[in-house]
Amino acid sequence: MTSKLIQLTVNGREEHIAADRLTTLQQVLREKLDCTTVKDGCTQGGCGACSVLVDGELALACLLPASRLEGAEVTTLEGLNESNSVGVIQECFVEHSAAQCGFCTSGMIVSVKALLDENPAPSDDDVMEAISGNLCRCTGYLPIIEAVKSAATKLAKGGTPHEQKTSG
Ligand code: FES
Ligand code: FES
Repeated sequence: MTSKLIQLTVNGREEHIAADRLTTLQQVLREKLDCTTVKDGCTQGGCGACSVLVDGELALACLLPASRLEGAEVTTLEGLNESNSVGVIQECFVEHSAAQCGFCTSGMIVSVKALLDENPAPSDDDVMEAISGNLCRCTGYLPIIEAVKSAATKLAKGGTPHEQKTSG
């Protein structure tokens, strides 16, 4: 199958990737750019484990043909890790046991970051709606809702992630 070279900006870096018409953004991110926080849960749009931001909008990387994304800006959790708000969200996930096996967690946190950027004080229903495309088999979702509400509260107070403690 014929490949064409596409240009993407991924986590702030310009990339030129060869992709044929069946190559998905998920394959590009995982296999060519080593963005392994983009999980491969179903490759059918059913689990949310591959959630990323494309031009600032939440998207499922497994459903997007890379060849149609010429010039797009893609952000994965690796790119969001530069953001303090993601650090706070991650801490709250740990504090509330909202990450157990962890398989859903990176996609979940991308969805939560998109939610809190849009709606800094979400209700339980808002959170459930925002993560409705992200399946979690471990937590029963309540710890995730608690973690997101707690992150929203901390961020409203100007929260930043705790400093990493060093020994010695
Ligand atoms: Fe994309 Fe499941 S891997 S939605
Ligand atoms: Fe295991 Fe969500 S923590 S699937």
